[in-house]
Amino acid sequence: MAPHGETSSDHGVIEAEKIPIKTIVIIIAMQTEALPLVTKFQLSEDIDSVFPKGVPWVRYHGIYKDLNINIIWPGKDGVLGVDSVGTVSASLVTYASIQALQPDLIINAGTSGGFKAKGACIGDVFLVSGVAFHDRRIPIPVFDQYGICGKETLSTPNLLKEVNLKVGKLSTGDSLDMSPQDEAAIIANDATVKDMEGAAVAYVADLLSVPAIFIKAITDIVDGDKPTAEEFLQNLVAVTAALDQSVTEVVDFVSGKCISEL
Ligand code: ADE
Repeated sequence: MAPHGETSSDHGVIEAEKIPIKTIVIIIAMQTEALPLVTKFQLSEDIDSVFPKGVPWVRYHGIYKDLNINIIWPGKDGVLGVDSVGTVSASLVTYASIQALQPDLIINAGTSGGFKAKGACIGDVFLVSGVAFHDRRIPIPVFDQYGICGKETLSTPNLLKEVNLKVGKLSTGDSLDMSPQDEAAIIANDATVKDMEGAAVAYVADLLSVPAIFIKAITDIVDGDKPTAEEFLQNLVAVTAALDQSVTEVVDFVSGKCISEL
């Protein structure tokens, strides 16, 4: 993706940025977060799956305004029956969705933890300006940077003028809780927002040169005094309403535009 303040040297990418956005893939890890948007955009579940036989991944699709919208939910774990959260499922569905649907834009939307020391409050919705991992520690020169995998996200100045979103960096790891080592890495990543998918989606989108944006709503304060799991579950439904409102506003803004106009 063309990061903030940089111009792509790849002419194919520059040309693609001038073509109106037609197909969007929205990656959402939890069913509770996805279903209100499925209703809002009047999407239907795929009958003939574009994904390999047997995987739990679910695609909801339909036309909204002038856009082909696809909401991709990694589905429930086949054995345990819980949402397939985390970086492994997120990378796989991002890869498979790009291969099958060739989207012009990926939106990764979800709930997340937030740092009050960096200005996050419960219910805030963030547009992510940069992503990194905080639990891939490889203390060998250069491998350390590979593990962190820090990147700026697509620059969207016009979207930010139009839609009321806070801006902050996101740090991704495969745990809901936070070890002292994770905390040090998240601080080093300068992150305001903590999730379990974003940097994995960014890695795959970048690998396949698909522009991606990240919309994250705060369900729990990571540097507060409440137990994270309890606070997350308590706020999940209410904060999802704020998340889904913001995603709708972003999709409305994207409609009729090309990447370079975002
Ligand atoms: N999703 C919601 N809250 C989170 C947290 N504290 N860490 C990671 N992912 C989250």
